[in-house]
Amino acid sequence: MDRVLEDQCHSIFIYQVRIKKIMQNDIEILQFFPKSICSIMLPEMVSDFWQKEISNIKFYKDVGDDNPHWKSAINTIEDYPEMKELFLTVVGDCLKQLGYDQKIIMTTSWLTAVEPNANPNPKPHHHTNSWYSGVYYFQNECSDLVFTNYNRREIEVTPTRSTIHNSIECSISPQKHQFIMFPSYMFHKISENTSNETRHSLAFNIMPTGIVGEGDSMFVYR
Ligand SMILES: [Fe+2]
Repeated sequence: MDRVLEDQCHSIFIYQVRIKKIMQNDIEILQFFPKSICSIMLPEMVSDFWQKEISNIKFYKDVGDDNPHWKSAINTIEDYPEMKELFLTVVGDCLKQLGYDQKIIMTTSWLTAVEPNANPNPKPHHHTNSWYSGVYYFQNECSDLVFTNYNRREIEVTPTRSTIHNSIECSISPQKHQFIMFPSYMFHKISENTSNETRHSLAFNIMPTGIVGEGDSMFVYR
């Protein structure tokens, strides 16, 4: 190798080492179009209310569901107008954080009951005819809420470590008083209830009301 070529190769090598060091320290991952899930802890009195009220709720076995468990009537919260207003306010605040000021309605609402070890292999499901869904936890030791990403990549390279960028499943371990709101299209499931207590939560669906969209995509939800 002549001298000039040797110097050039050496310079390229030095440059590559330098670039590698810079990259390891400075790589920033930009996240476009994330799936945004809102979480907020509600005042203790809300949990106290539902814990007391749960014994008055009638539950029905939901056998046709992919995620079989016991559910209350599908408009349970209509019997509790003050609670309905409270949750609509919380949802409205979450939507404002996401950049929406849309009027909303609660279309369905139900309490869930999952018995200990009742459903070891729940299948993910999503909520149709709904914009956002909310779930509120008012007990200790609720099993995980697990979200599944079905937007699988065409090139399935096995990652060396699990991150939010490559995971197929992401879980939330719900805390008592925690309210979670997620886009209704997101597939999710309740992981097996391994505690000794029946797992309860309050769930509901939200739709926009009034004008949405524009031009030939405009629609008025009433
Ligand atoms: Fe669900």
